[in-house]
Amino acid sequence: MQAPAVSAVQQHRQHCLIAVTSAFGARLTTPAVAPVLRLTSGLLHNSCWSLRRQARKLGVNQRSRQAHAISQIRTEAMASEHALISESAAWEALKKHVKTIEGTHLRELLQDQERCEELIKEYDGVVVDLSRQRVVHETIIKLLKLAEEAKLKEKIDKMFDGEHINVTENRAVLHAALRAPRDEVINCDGQNVVPSVWEVLDKINSFSDQIRSGSWLGATGKPLTDVVAIGIGGSFLGPLFVHTAFQTEPTCALAAKGRRLRFLANVDPIDVARALADLQQETTLVVIVSKTFTTAETMLNARTVRTWITSALGTEAVSKHMVAVSTNLKLVKEFGIDPANAFGFWDWVGGRYSVCSAVGVLPLALQYGFGNVKKFLEGAWSIDDHFRSAPLGRNLPVLLGLMSVWNVSFLGCPARAILPYCQALAKLAPHIQQVSMESNGKGVSIDGVPLPYGTGEVDFGEPGTNGQHSFYQLIHQGRVVPCDFIGIIKSQQSVYLKGEQVSNHDELMCNFFAQADALAFGKTREELLAEKVPEELIPHKMFSGNRQSLSILLPNLTPYTVGQLLALYENRVAVQGWIWGINSFDQWGVELGKSLAGKVRTQMNAARTKGKPLSGFNYSTTTLLTRYLQGKTQLLYPDPHDVFPTNILPGHEK
Ligand code: F6P
Repeated sequence: MQAPAVSAVQQHRQHCLIAVTSAFGARLTTPAVAPVLRLTSGLLHNSCWSLRRQARKLGVNQRSRQAHAISQIRTEAMASEHALISESAAWEALKKHVKTIEGTHLRELLQDQERCEELIKEYDGVVVDLSRQRVVHETIIKLLKLAEEAKLKEKIDKMFDGEHINVTENRAVLHAALRAPRDEVINCDGQNVVPSVWEVLDKINSFSDQIRSGSWLGATGKPLTDVVAIGIGGSFLGPLFVHTAFQTEPTCALAAKGRRLRFLANVDPIDVARALADLQQETTLVVIVSKTFTTAETMLNARTVRTWITSALGTEAVSKHMVAVSTNLKLVKEFGIDPANAFGFWDWVGGRYSVCSAVGVLPLALQYGFGNVKKFLEGAWSIDDHFRSAPLGRNLPVLLGLMSVWNVSFLGCPARAILPYCQALAKLAPHIQQVSMESNGKGVSIDGVPLPYGTGEVDFGEPGTNGQHSFYQLIHQGRVVPCDFIGIIKSQQSVYLKGEQVSNHDELMCNFFAQADALAFGKTREELLAEKVPEELIPHKMFSGNRQSLSILLPNLTPYTVGQLLALYENRVAVQGWIWGINSFDQWGVELGKSLAGKVRTQMNAARTKGKPLSGFNYSTTTLLTRYLQGKTQLLYPDPHDVFPTNILPGHEK
């Protein structure tokens, strides 16, 4: 926890207390009520809604005094950096504006060409169509006003200026620096970080070249053709997303010929079996990817694969067959990896924002060559540069973020579907799930104040058209789920059959266009009657329409545009967090489960090896754990021996 942030909050609470007491007058500062008042202004230091509630509790009937107090607090609060956005006039105005929007239907809104023109934006080949959002010109103005109230521009600047905006971890947030051109200057704590970024990139360039060219050989003198990247969460999902996107791109596919890249994330031994299936130790390079180098799953998998390597090649082989990516180079060394074979990054790179660091760049460069990965970084930087410099009204990540805030906080849609019409983007939704949900799923403001509104959205998705045959029923006729449709103009692969009306990719894209319109326009009773649909089926076949979506159209899916897409989402998530006034860059919510797993681990081992009874668990956990331990008596403890999955999946390719 960072000291300055806490004291700022304390200062502000003090400030609110003074404001509350002076507004309500001495009557409320009697010893009996003062502690309650202090609690109010302390816990909810600038929330007028809570102040009203508190005033009611205290039996304050003097309406005018109360109103005066509230307005004074609101003014004080909004003047403060720590105010909740829901107390702002812009938020109130948007809440009122919902009524206007409720009186519209996308069927009509989409007839307004001027409106549509205003809502279709383009930057560096990326087209973003917001015309199927439930917005009119006035909505955009009001959302931009909200951005202004939230000091969005200042927050973007603070990020690029290397300020420690991740206050609970006292860290800067500079993943954009990972893709900055060599000559860019991005300072953090008084130092330009770009040269150190490029130092690591140059090292990856040279190392990946040695591996790929065969000048670096394994312990038995064979070239290392296969890579297993061990890591979880941000040390896995981003690299997997990019790998999946590159795999079928012709230039990348050519560069990857004869090579295999596997990921091992889950601590489930089945994942070990999948990752190692068909691989030979002699030709395998293992990359351990962990920012902290303490993540339990990753470290157990790393020890497992180290044993798999050394059991066949001896301990000396580690220096040739295992490398690491981490910010914790001390632990990398203790694990037995030569620091020369470690690729560092920095605490100003959050795990889920780390794909552009060695976390993603190393495994991807090993598979596809550094040149292709460099283009990916360039694409991401193109959007970063736009994000930091474009006016908010033309800024793609800003507009995308504002649409999400509008849908979640005002139109009451807490979910979002990510629907790429491109099989190569199959892992986009799982990656964005972490980027978005780990970032914005928070219950308190950046100052620790409980929020009276929900943040984040529930993300899910599948590539079209697969999703259409799965969950689209719900989004067409069930719940309203704002959708992101992502389409590609020129497919990575071509299939066209003589005699077919359109190419296979055209067919895919016909669905991309159709689905967005189906959601927006729906189907009316009148249309069904005209089609002579029997009366009893009409309610079942009607589509209300008016279901919002947005479309992103990319010219192609190359390393460059994959980078653009990544940065669009990363920056959009940050925008949402800044508007909601939360810290999108910490993740304390993942800690409790981890520590409880540690407690289970200790007791499981003690029960097995010493016959110790379980203690301290609730009835349910004790019962299930006992049942589990009874069912696992085949394990040979306390004298275990190394067991590896057999090559159960010959020919299996991940
Ligand atoms: O799940 C929590 C988390 O800390 C993520 O934020 C992170 O991406 C993941 O674990 C992996 O962490 P590490 O890279 O330190 O192993």
